[in-house]
Amino acid sequence: MTISLKSAEDLAGMRIAGRLAAEVLDMLTAHVKPGVTTEELDRLAHDHMVTVQGTVPAPLNYAPPGYRPYPKSICTSINHQVCHGIPNDRPLKNGDIVNIDITVIKDGWHGDTSRMFIVGEGSIAAKRLCALTYEAMWKGILKVKPGARLGDIGHAIQTFAESSGFSVVREFCGHGIGHKFHEEPQVLHYGRPGTLEELVPGMVFTVEPMINAGRREIRELGDGWTIVTKDRSLSAQWEHTVAVTETGYEVLTLSAGSPAIPDFVTAQPAALAV
Ligand code: MF3
Ligand code: CO
Ligand code: CO
Repeated sequence: MTISLKSAEDLAGMRIAGRLAAEVLDMLTAHVKPGVTTEELDRLAHDHMVTVQGTVPAPLNYAPPGYRPYPKSICTSINHQVCHGIPNDRPLKNGDIVNIDITVIKDGWHGDTSRMFIVGEGSIAAKRLCALTYEAMWKGILKVKPGARLGDIGHAIQTFAESSGFSVVREFCGHGIGHKFHEEPQVLHYGRPGTLEELVPGMVFTVEPMINAGRREIRELGDGWTIVTKDRSLSAQWEHTVAVTETGYEVLTLSAGSPAIPDFVTAQPAALAV
């Protein structure tokens, strides 16, 4: 297993890519409302990346081994869709929940982040799933510091999600990121504390838990990309790109429009290394 370590100069590049990815979500936020199609969101995002930011949308034509090339510039996963939903011409409707996942490339560096959006007025159950999944991501991020292990991150997320009666998707995970979209290590969102790779300064990876309201089992649709819950229960996901620093972590995908960081995170300033 080879995990690339990023230098201070590399991190400067990744900080820019990460912020730009988050700013695409900021730009899209006002457009996520009943009646808009995910294809329109894709076009807005694509144009913003290429024309305003000078970034490259990493998903477009991305084709990992065993996959056909991804046809769009962003991923939009609605309701029981877990991840990798392909934008299409179906309008969003009141009460939908949608994950928008943005990955940009700037000067060769990738930034990868996603948020949940509630279209119009969401049900209490939908709002609870989205909020809890956001907290689950931060529970994992809080574990990031030199000497901790990847299993600590997964365990924190899993225990938090399952104690609320939700389930953690096992087949997809966070990932190292840098010059490549998906690098080592794999960052599982479940596991046992004190296991797996030890974290060292310079590692950069994503934390991106997928949490289901029902059972954890998933299946892939015939388009070769879209993942849905087998029981058709709602699924939520949030994602940040995170660097391991000398003393803790730095979140690279924050922007002016990032949602408030939970109190249980800001109450632990020692872990914030920015
Ligand atoms: N952005 C996703 C991730 O978080 C990967 C999407 S691959 C794509 O890892 F091809 F569907 F875009
Ligand atoms: Co990712
Ligand atoms: Co992503």
